[in-house]
Amino acid sequence: MRPLLLLVLTAVLSAQDAFLVKPYLQLGDAPKLAAKERLDLLWHAEDRDAAWSVEVKGPRGWVAQAAPAYRRLDAPPLPAHRIYRATLRNLTPGVKVPYRVKLEGKVVFEAEAQARRPGAHRMVVFGDAADGSAAQQALAKAVAGAHPDAVFIVGDLVYGRGRASEYRTHFFPVYNAEGFPLMRSVPFLGVPGNHDVPFKGLGDAAAYFAYWSMPLDGPALEPGGPNAAPMVAGVHDAVVAAAGPAFPRMASYSFDYGNVHWTVLDSNVYADWTSPALKAWLEADLKAAQGATWRIVALHHPLFQSSRSHMDDQWMRPISPLLEQYGVDLVLAGHVHNYQRTAPLRFRPTKVGPRSRPVEGAFTVDEAFDGKTATRARGVIHIVTGAGGAELYDPWQTEVRASWQPWTRTFISDRHSFTVLDVAGRALKVRQLDPEGRELDRITLTK
Ligand SMILES: [Fe+2]
Repeated sequence: MRPLLLLVLTAVLSAQDAFLVKPYLQLGDAPKLAAKERLDLLWHAEDRDAAWSVEVKGPRGWVAQAAPAYRRLDAPPLPAHRIYRATLRNLTPGVKVPYRVKLEGKVVFEAEAQARRPGAHRMVVFGDAADGSAAQQALAKAVAGAHPDAVFIVGDLVYGRGRASEYRTHFFPVYNAEGFPLMRSVPFLGVPGNHDVPFKGLGDAAAYFAYWSMPLDGPALEPGGPNAAPMVAGVHDAVVAAAGPAFPRMASYSFDYGNVHWTVLDSNVYADWTSPALKAWLEADLKAAQGATWRIVALHHPLFQSSRSHMDDQWMRPISPLLEQYGVDLVLAGHVHNYQRTAPLRFRPTKVGPRSRPVEGAFTVDEAFDGKTATRARGVIHIVTGAGGAELYDPWQTEVRASWQPWTRTFISDRHSFTVLDVAGRALKVRQLDPEGRELDRITLTK
C-alpha cells in the first residue's frame, strides 16, 4: 500500500476509534441564564492516557477551552472507560457556535452547539424512551426534524435498568446518530425514572448519575440518607465514584430556559416530597421563580392520569396545592406509556394513605379553558408524555372516553408521540406530534 494512502486511512480510522461514545452536550451546573453562556461537552473513550483538547469558534478563530477532565467508570460488563468532560465557555446566548474536539492535535470531531436562548425557544419533551425499539428510533428522527433548542426526557431514560451497557447500545447511538444528530447539537436534560436508579445486583445501573451533567442545585442529599437514591455498597460503588458530586444530588434540580423556570423532581418512591426537607426546597424554588413568565414542573410519576396502568401510583399528588399556590402552569410526566392532557385543575387532598394506594381529594376543574379561544388557565395542566419509545399502555382507552377521568381532555395511546413546547413571551403553545409529523393535540396558553 502506498505510504500516503496508508497515512490517510490510519487518520480516518483513528478518528473513528477515538470515541466509545461521541461528544454530547449537557447544560452542566448552570441553572440560570448568564450574559456569557456555557455548555458541558461529554464523551466516552478508552481507559488510557491521551491528549484531548476542545476548541470553540470565536470571531477571530478557534479558541482553546480549558483542558477536559475525566472520571473513570469500571462497571462490568463494559470494560473500564473514561467519561471526559469539557466546558464550552463565553457563548453568546441564543447563538449557535461551531466547536471541535482534538486528539493528539488532530481534529476528530466537529459540530455546532446551540447556546441557551434568552427568549423564544422550542423545547421537545418525551419519556419512557430508550428501549432499543424501532419506535424509539423513529421518534428520535422526528424529534431531530422538529429542530428543538433543547430536549427534556421525563424519566425512564434507558431500559431495562439505566445501565451503562444499555446507554452504549441503545441510548447514545440513537440520540447522537450521524444521520439525525441531536445530542451533539442541543443539550439533553432529564430526570431519573424508576428504571434509572440503582438496581439490585446490577453494578452498572443508575449510569444517569455518571453520564449526565446538570445543575447541582437540588435538595442537599447524603448518600444513604433520607430521600436519596439508595445504593448498595459493594454493588454500585463504581457508578457512585464515577458520578462524583452528582450522586445522589443530581436526581432533582431546577433551571431556567428563556422565560421559563423548570423545577425537576425525583419522584421515585424513596423521595418523600411531603417531608420537611424536600417540601422546603420545592417551596423555596417556586417562590424564587415568581419572576419567570412560565413555571413548569417535570417529574417521572404523574399526579393525575387516566390509564388503567399505574393508576394507583399517586404518591406525588400531595404537592399539588403547593404547585397551584406558586402558579405552576404545566406538570410534565412520563411513567405511563401514552399521551394524556388534563383540564386546568386544582386539588385538595383529603386522604393520603400508604404509597401505591389512591390519594383522594377534591378537584376544582377549569371547564372554560379550551386552549383555542379561552387560553388563560385557572389551575395546573397535567401532561403525561410517556409515549417516547417503550410499548404503549392501554391503547383501547384511546377510543373509550368513558374510561377517562372526568378532568382528562385528551388521551392518545394508539401511537408513539412527543411534546413540542413553543414559548414566545406570554404565549406558550403545546403540541403533540407522532413520528410521522401528524399533530395529535394542540393548545395555547396565554398570560
Ligand atoms: Fe416508569
